[in-house]
Amino acid sequence: MKTLIALLGLTVMLSAADAGALYQKCAACHGAKAEKAALGKSEVIAGWSSDKTFDALKGYKAGTRNTKGMGALMKGQTAALSDADMKALADYIAKLK
Ligand code: HEC
Repeated sequence: MKTLIALLGLTVMLSAADAGALYQKCAACHGAKAEKAALGKSEVIAGWSSDKTFDALKGYKAGTRNTKGMGALMKGQTAALSDADMKALADYIAKLK
């Protein structure tokens, strides 16, 4: 039971609490400031509004978005993200400079 509570606490901590930490794995492809075309394919997402990024992420997670033929890759990236995580990430990316 204690373990369960600890795990739940960790999940709460990880979910949306620190978008900067969540973004670290995205940065590998999209760049620390979201300034890169990921794998030479994606749009540069720096400067995107939070809503635009959030919609894109939800689309990838649902498997309905695939603009450059690599939607399946982004589906994997978003699979474990909650709506709150994706919203926090979208807000974070919109503020990157
Ligand atoms: C392994 C490299 C890689 C990682 C890691 C990655 N992405 Fe992507 N991302 C891509 C590629 C490639 C595309 C283009 C997908 C397609 O065909 O629609 C993309 C597309 C996107 C788009 C839409 C841009 C467009 O071209 O329409 C957003 C927003 C995005 N990624 C955000 C993220 C976020 C947030 C994370 C971290 C949770 C992340 N990505 C992790 C490679 C990556």
